[in-house]
Amino acid sequence: MTKTFMDFLSPTSLILLLLSSLISIWFSIRIFIKPSNLPPGPPQLPIIGNLHQLGNLPHRSLHELSKRYGPVMHLRLGQVPTLVVSSPEMAKQVLKTHDLVCCSRPLTHGPKRLSYNFLDVAFGPYSDYWREMRKLCVIELFTVKRVQSFGHVREEQVGQLIKSLSKASGAPVELSERIFSLSNNVLCTIAFGKSYEGRQFASGKFKETIDEGMAMLSSFWGSDFFPYVGWIVDVLSGLHSRLEKLFHDFDGFFERVIEEHVDPTRKRSENEDFTDILLGLAQEDQKASFRVTRDHIKAVLMNIFVGGIDTSSLTVVWAMTELARNPRVMQTVQAEIRSHVGKNSKVEETLVENLKYLKMVVKETFRLHPPAPLLIPRESTRHCQICGYNVYPKTRILVNAWAIGRDPEVWKNPDEFYPERFEGSEIDFRGQNFELLPFGAGRRICPGLTMGATAVEFTLANLLHCFNWELPKGMKREDISLEEEGGLTVHKKLPLYLVPVEYKWQDYKS
Ligand code: HEM
Repeated sequence: MTKTFMDFLSPTSLILLLLSSLISIWFSIRIFIKPSNLPPGPPQLPIIGNLHQLGNLPHRSLHELSKRYGPVMHLRLGQVPTLVVSSPEMAKQVLKTHDLVCCSRPLTHGPKRLSYNFLDVAFGPYSDYWREMRKLCVIELFTVKRVQSFGHVREEQVGQLIKSLSKASGAPVELSERIFSLSNNVLCTIAFGKSYEGRQFASGKFKETIDEGMAMLSSFWGSDFFPYVGWIVDVLSGLHSRLEKLFHDFDGFFERVIEEHVDPTRKRSENEDFTDILLGLAQEDQKASFRVTRDHIKAVLMNIFVGGIDTSSLTVVWAMTELARNPRVMQTVQAEIRSHVGKNSKVEETLVENLKYLKMVVKETFRLHPPAPLLIPRESTRHCQICGYNVYPKTRILVNAWAIGRDPEVWKNPDEFYPERFEGSEIDFRGQNFELLPFGAGRRICPGLTMGATAVEFTLANLLHCFNWELPKGMKREDISLEEEGGLTVHKKLPLYLVPVEYKWQDYKS
């Protein structure tokens, strides 16, 4: 019997043949179908593309590049095609005109994806599931009414901070640590019903574990830039095992929080915390097609941690830094607050709405120091055109909110801290004005906007009312550093030392 060609092939060689054909077809497509009419951008090196141009502070490096290549730029970061927009008009194109196409988030790859899978619930790609989850969170957790209902938590925690600062009155204090701890206590109480400090995690203290989480977010992940092979670098560098450990720590912690909440002997407080609300939804939804499970609850709690603590506290620190460097602004804002508060020892949350100059100080802080200077990376799901250039599916999109806040076409003397620039201006940070984007805009706008802004304004109002702030002996205003450090979020590199001197509110004369 004559043998055919197929008879010589074993199943293994058949699979290999099929695979090599697929790979060669893929390469041919890549070579012959080159993306056309891309936005301008710097020349790329083989393999790494423009990765070497990112530097330690990517928002600054990308700002410099945009001065040469324009407000809409194309780069290749490792293997990932990336669009960078750096002007209000281009940001509007991405965040409004093409929001639906540009509102996904890049998926993480390799083992990092396994660890992070529960983060994908809120920070993850655009999907029906993400939409349902987001809707639920926005309606149940982040309404103005809900934010107001937690006013007592902010009042109590800020009161404790003021008390501890009063004890230190007249001596230099390091503000960043104290404000981080305040922000942490407020968010933990809102999310879990009580504040957690000390040894809550299997491998260490609360603050250390949160710091490790932030370090993980700021680290260089091979898999972020080389989606299919980069995870090998992550495994070899030890990042992956650190992340695994961290994930288990958080998972164990959230498990305990949930167990405490479902314990029938637990004394319920008058006010529901986020865990109570989410557990309630999980019960309600058991029959619905969209179910809230224990993993989803952990995911939401995790996102609150990642999204909320660092951003709010570093904004307060930046505001205090700028005020310490600008005594005129400091005096003006304190005079406003004290004229409203009179002989009261503290600022009530309901009064903050009337503090117009304080609100301008906060806007000016967000303009110069947006906590997430490149927002959170987005990804396009389909083809679209921005400013006449092609944007292909699976392009990573970075909106340089930091560069937009310093655009001389938009802002006069952009590097100056000058809150008066907002006098009589409609510009706000709620996602309608693309000149000021500390919370982003569009479908992915920060859901914690009202909660974050309220916490920042209220904390600042009280710090500024209760104390006059002096510089430590021998220090000059010009010595206060504005140097930045970080990754996804950017904080002040050097600690901020200031001397709180108790203000005698009893002596106030109108
Ligand atoms: C000063 C305070 C805050 C700032 C400046 C801030 C900033 C941001 C920014 C820039 C984004 C990305 C927006 C985009 O891609 O367009 C974001 C997303 C997010 N933020 Fe905030 N945030 C703050 C406070 C909070 C708080 C208090 C929470 C929760 C309690 C929170 C939870 C989140 C979550 C879950 C996301 C992801 C949204 C999504 O991908 O759909 N943030 N935030």
